[in-house]
Amino acid sequence: MKRDRSPVEQYHDRVAGIYDTIYEHNPYWETVFALTWRHVLRHLPTNQATRCLDVGCGTGKWGLMLLKSGYACDFLDISAKMLDHARRKVSQLDRVPAPPEFYHASLADLSAVPAGRYGFIIGQGDPLGSAGRPEKALKELCRALAPGGLLLMSVDSVYGGLYHYLKEGDLDGLENFIKSGRTRWVTDEENQQYEIQAFTPEKIRELCAARQLEVVSIIGKTILPLRRFQEQLRDRETRERLIKLEEKLNGREAVLGCAAHLEFVARKSN
Ligand SMILES: C[S@@+](CC[C@H](N)C(=O)[O-])C[C@H]1O[C@@H](n2cnc3c(N)ncnc32)[C@H](O)[C@@H]1O
Repeated sequence: MKRDRSPVEQYHDRVAGIYDTIYEHNPYWETVFALTWRHVLRHLPTNQATRCLDVGCGTGKWGLMLLKSGYACDFLDISAKMLDHARRKVSQLDRVPAPPEFYHASLADLSAVPAGRYGFIIGQGDPLGSAGRPEKALKELCRALAPGGLLLMSVDSVYGGLYHYLKEGDLDGLENFIKSGRTRWVTDEENQQYEIQAFTPEKIRELCAARQLEVVSIIGKTILPLRRFQEQLRDRETRERLIKLEEKLNGREAVLGCAAHLEFVARKSN
């Protein structure tokens, strides 16, 4: 039976073919990806027998990095077209530690994923915020985690999103956003617009506490306003220095609100 695709699925199906090009040759995003991978490496279990899951995998960026680093990794996305790209890239690898599973599913319902299977789950690009109720998605992710397993998710930040409403002079929107953290992904196709939940560090802690997840790390991406200084990031040496400075700042609670995105790592109890 034909199923109706949700707006978030339709949107990502539509952009899947051009998704990678949006981020290519962009010094800001290259810097963000470098910071992300360094954060991943700080928390990735050293035991290479750990099975990983890349949720909201898109075209497979992070799962591929994990496979190339010797970890067995599965892929999950709400968009079948994104998954097709991830599958094709995996098929081009010379070898993989174990054949990956590809799940076409939403974080809102992970019943297709075996309980307790994963020692490390990564979700980059805010799939949690577009999964409807984040508390339900977190419950599903928690079920998929093995005891002691780690969840590393990047999410949109409420404080980082305030500027947009001020710039538009939209005070009603600003009031609403501060109160609820909810905003909309606006795209030209009206039926592909969807609600996004943005987070504060306090909200992340509250949601994790409700699932008995221990928050191990929260960083901002990025604290330094690097997006406005892309030219400086083109120079290798300058970029490396700025990455090191960013890493000195990005875990400091007092400045987390400067960042457009937050990234948290949480551990399921044993
Ligand atoms: C911004 S992209 C990030 C892709 C990839 N993680 C990366 O960093 O390149 C967000 C991805 O999350 C997926 N996504 C959004 N909401 C989702 C949900 N509720 N469940 C599963 N995947 C979702 C989208 O289809 C899309 O592929």
